[in-house]
Amino acid sequence: MRILSGIQPSGKLHLGNYFGMMRPSLELQKKGDAFLFIANYHALTTVHNSAQLRQDTLDVALDFLACGLDPRRTIFFRQSDVPEVHELTWLLSTVTPMGLLERCHSYKDKIARGIAANHALFAYPVLMAADILIYQSDIVPVGRDQKQHLEVTRDIALKFNNEFGEVFKIPEPFIPEEVAVVPGVDGQKMSKSYGNTIDLFATPKETKASIMRIVTDSTPLEEPKNPATCNVFALYKLFASEEQRAGMEANYSGGNYGYGHAKKALLSLFSESFEPFRAKREELANNLDYVEEVLQQGAAKARAAASVTLDKARAAVGL
Ligand code: ADP
Ligand code: TRP
Repeated sequence: MRILSGIQPSGKLHLGNYFGMMRPSLELQKKGDAFLFIANYHALTTVHNSAQLRQDTLDVALDFLACGLDPRRTIFFRQSDVPEVHELTWLLSTVTPMGLLERCHSYKDKIARGIAANHALFAYPVLMAADILIYQSDIVPVGRDQKQHLEVTRDIALKFNNEFGEVFKIPEPFIPEEVAVVPGVDGQKMSKSYGNTIDLFATPKETKASIMRIVTDSTPLEEPKNPATCNVFALYKLFASEEQRAGMEANYSGGNYGYGHAKKALLSLFSESFEPFRAKREELANNLDYVEEVLQQGAAKARAAASVTLDKARAAVGL
């Protein structure tokens, strides 16, 4: 089973990225043949600052290696080190109906937020389809906001196979229900574009400030509270063991337990979980040659796999 995912280097990673995409990908690396890449071509649709793109790309590499990506199990690489993906993007574009791209929410949302409607932003899902199909991926772990892009990928693959013969495997998204949408401190979907994130590697002071900002209702301290509608609990349960979760539910329903207490408990679970990753990240940041070597070795393996599919696709269309 081949598992593949990618993430754009377009800002600091947060708990939504971690639970929605990083952790499922890292867990799946034990179950199959895993590919993970840093989607720097995709980031170029919105980031036009070379120093920032390089820095963000390096930060994503450090974040993943610190959080448990094992380069012996996962082929980890920069998207731009496999330029074959662009040739496949062109071949796929020739079977992609305009209407399919015009319906994409992600494109419409970005335009609504004032991002310039350039061609790359519009064609983004075709490059994403090429990313997935070129490695003959079976499973793609992503958050729910990427589900439509997976549907587009499947449509393009089916259309290509139909017109030119069986070249691509049809991939399945992997979206665990409990982490499909991680809420931000304001209760909306956590996203760097909404300024509501809890970042993975902020300073302890910044993390505390973000957690203290989580919006709660005005139920008085002594009254029972409903965990099902509480943003603090929604985040707490992502970290908690079964017992911790049951204990917190009992605290909520028992009364005399305030949101401030719950926030402290969340902060302490966050710190416990990320402290080892933070130490590992510092170690890696002092050993950038190692990080570069991992990415280059990953790219060499990824290119070898990509060129097999590309050759098949070229032959199928008559090139
Ligand atoms: P952002 O919304 O901060 O720009 P991205 O769109 O770069 O995040 O998302 C990268 C990956 O993380 C995608 O697979 C996405 O589905 C997942 N992800 C991002 N935010 C969340 C969230 N709040 N809940 C679940 N998954 C998320
Ligand atoms: N579009 C994805 C995001 O914004 C990143 C991405 C690019 C991706 N190519 C991919 C994810 C292929 C999974 C598979 O998060």
